[in-house]
Amino acid sequence: MERTLIILKPDAVQRQLMGAIISRFEQKGLQIVGAKFMQISRELAERHYAAHKGKDFFEPTVNYIISGPVLVMVLQAKGAIAIARKLMGTTFGFDAEPGTIRGDFGLSSRFNLVHGSDSPESAEAEINLYFSDEELIDYELTNRHWVFGNV
Ligand code: TYD
Ligand code: MG
Repeated sequence: MERTLIILKPDAVQRQLMGAIISRFEQKGLQIVGAKFMQISRELAERHYAAHKGKDFFEPTVNYIISGPVLVMVLQAKGAIAIARKLMGTTFGFDAEPGTIRGDFGLSSRFNLVHGSDSPESAEAEINLYFSDEELIDYELTNRHWVFGNV
């Protein structure tokens, strides 16, 4: 089982799209094992985006993610990281494929609604930034057989 960190960014909260976006992940079969509604501090945002430090979009991207409350989630499934990235679509809504979250809900070249970890290494680091072990719940989804097949 793989875990990934998802953030519904301030535009998703302000545009009241949280439910619609969570539904995309849930309907696919990804399991929510942690969730937190919070205001990200500048310090935490800078750690989150540390890989982008020095790039021209670093500062505006930090300012955007701290501009209002966000919903941070940990989703779990076999292949969760890649599956979530596919559901999200490419980085900006104006060229993201229809059918994806970013492709269906936005066209901004800054506000792109959702963050998702891009590798097992970043998923582990990002999950540890936002959640303690006790905040992640290990439980069985009773529909697991029907979602995954006979595994
Ligand atoms: P990145 O990790 O490349 O995108 P993704 O969110 O799809 O994993 O970049 C992180 C965020 O930085 C991205 O969500 C939006 C912002 N960004 C820009 O504002 N301009 C850019 O050219 C890029 C590449 C990213
Ligand atoms: Mg990224």
